[in-house]
Amino acid sequence: MIDIRTVGVIGAGQMGAGIAQVAAQAGYDVILSDIDLPRAEKGLAGIAKLLNRAVEKEKITQADADAALARITPAGDIAPLAKAQLVIEAATEREEIKRNIFSKVGPLLTDDAILATNTSSIPITRLAQVAPDAGRFVGVHFFNPVPVMGLVELIRGLATTPETVSAMEAFAQTLDKQVVHAFDSPGFIVNRILLPMINEAIFALGEGVGSVVDIDTGIKLGLNHPMGPLTLADFVGLDTVLEITKILQDTTGDPKYRPAPLLVKYVEAGWYGRKTGRGFYDYSGPEPVATR
Ligand code: 3HC
Repeated sequence: MIDIRTVGVIGAGQMGAGIAQVAAQAGYDVILSDIDLPRAEKGLAGIAKLLNRAVEKEKITQADADAALARITPAGDIAPLAKAQLVIEAATEREEIKRNIFSKVGPLLTDDAILATNTSSIPITRLAQVAPDAGRFVGVHFFNPVPVMGLVELIRGLATTPETVSAMEAFAQTLDKQVVHAFDSPGFIVNRILLPMINEAIFALGEGVGSVVDIDTGIKLGLNHPMGPLTLADFVGLDTVLEITKILQDTTGDPKYRPAPLLVKYVEAGWYGRKTGRGFYDYSGPEPVATR
């Protein structure tokens, strides 16, 4: 089995930075790359903040935080990824962007390196078309916030080898994540079930069944979820929620996955949730305020 020492992460946003952080804390050398150095450095600064907070809360020592941070090298291009035994792509959830990345990164990698994607829902077998070796291409789906959430969903494409799956399972265990295995089918396991729930909450809101707060409180307290579905939608990003819902609809052809009209409208308005300061809640003040 391949000995993973250096992990390349493509995309220094919310998910990529989270993956880089947990890999560095597990002792891997990490290359955190994005389309330019300032973006990669911004991701690194976010990691430094979270590590500092963990030190303040006495969850980790200052020495461990410093060592983890020192293991992460930001990069403004993909060239340094050549030395990684595992590259995890966590770029924007758009197929053409991911395909473009794989076609450029693939030729740089060594013959035994594993190429993985953190896609939330794009078919692994289809993305593998542009990977150098479909046998060493795999889905590794982390959950937000990565340092907190205990799960990794491993998705095997049609050609992914059992050796690749075993190597990724061992890797996830070193990050202290529990693995569930999913075959390559729309939404895999978790998003196949989560996205229809979020979408239905938005339909209910659009139809006036309840207010934002009542829908969220209903699910939070009625089902004991840590967040209501509209809060969670804002947290994931409404653009991402819409992308995944469209993929479920397009890949299955099943109208039950059609996006709620209000979700489409919010994305058209640029109201993507927390990351833009407004979604179903307004985040401009000290506390989020429901907008409907
Ligand atoms: N990064 C790192 N740590 C974070 C964090 C972040 N962004 N946000 C919160 N935390 C940590 C806090 O520091 C705290 O740590 P501690 O227990 O060691 O002190 C712990 O999480 C709990 O945080 P809080 O007390 O501030 O707040 P909550 O108790 O409300 O927990 C939450 C916050 C963990 C985000 C919780 O609300 C939750 O679990 N929400 C649901 C998250 C979820 O469903 N994620 C999956 C989204 S779907 C997905 O990612 C798939 C994609 O493909 C769409």
